[in-house]
Amino acid sequence: MNFNLYNSYSWAMNFLGFDRQINRFVDELSLEHQDVQRVLDVGCGTGAMGVQLLVRFPDATLLATDIQERFLQGVLSNSETRGLRQDRVSVGLSDITKPAEVELLPGGVTSLEMESFDLISVGAVIGYSEDQRETIKALLSLIKPGGLLLNLEMNEHMVGRWTSHRYEYDALPLTEMAALMAEEGCSVSRLPLSMKYFPVNMTRVGLLAAKKRLS
Ligand SMILES: C[S@@+](CC[C@H](N)C(=O)[O-])C[C@H]1O[C@@H](n2cnc3c(N)ncnc32)[C@H](O)[C@@H]1O
Repeated sequence: MNFNLYNSYSWAMNFLGFDRQINRFVDELSLEHQDVQRVLDVGCGTGAMGVQLLVRFPDATLLATDIQERFLQGVLSNSETRGLRQDRVSVGLSDITKPAEVELLPGGVTSLEMESFDLISVGAVIGYSEDQRETIKALLSLIKPGGLLLNLEMNEHMVGRWTSHRYEYDALPLTEMAALMAEEGCSVSRLPLSMKYFPVNMTRVGLLAAKKRLS
């Protein structure tokens, strides 16, 4: 992974308005699943998705994980600036290759329980996994039946491809990701971003996987 990711990501988030527009996308997303109590944001960056999900679901708690501690500090200050109770947020170090293995900060290693989250968000991170198919399966296994996986993935248009290449990011084709989620028992929707989400629409596309309820 490119070592300067933190600086250029923070710059894009703040000065290009990515943060505000990701927040807006999360807020406006049509979700059938309204009873969200536990959210996991994996490869969370400074928490644009996870923190906004806490705003949207006032009873929820968030576990935000990333491979870099610097980003986790960003999540804590982002949620504090936005006036969210700090006992609703916890953070931990984790590699997307094994998303269930988390070193909680300030301390303690944990293995996340299967089917324990209502909603998992990921954005532009699955492509950093050493085994993307296993990562997707592991993420889905952490979701309760009826829960959701929201992936705000890099898109396959010119700017998305260029940006992925620039940051050495190489995600599976979207059709392959969606097919795997379907094989794992989810109904999957592709959510293209309209111009109103500019500039996020230039590089990202949404994939929403709803895990089937037990019959
Ligand atoms: C492009 S940023 C995306 C952040 C956020 N999810 C978003 O949608 O804006 C990629 C994030 O993935 C994290 N990351 C990179 N490699 C990772 C890995 N192997 N495991 C977990 N996180 C990783 C980076 O530290 C960074 O926070």
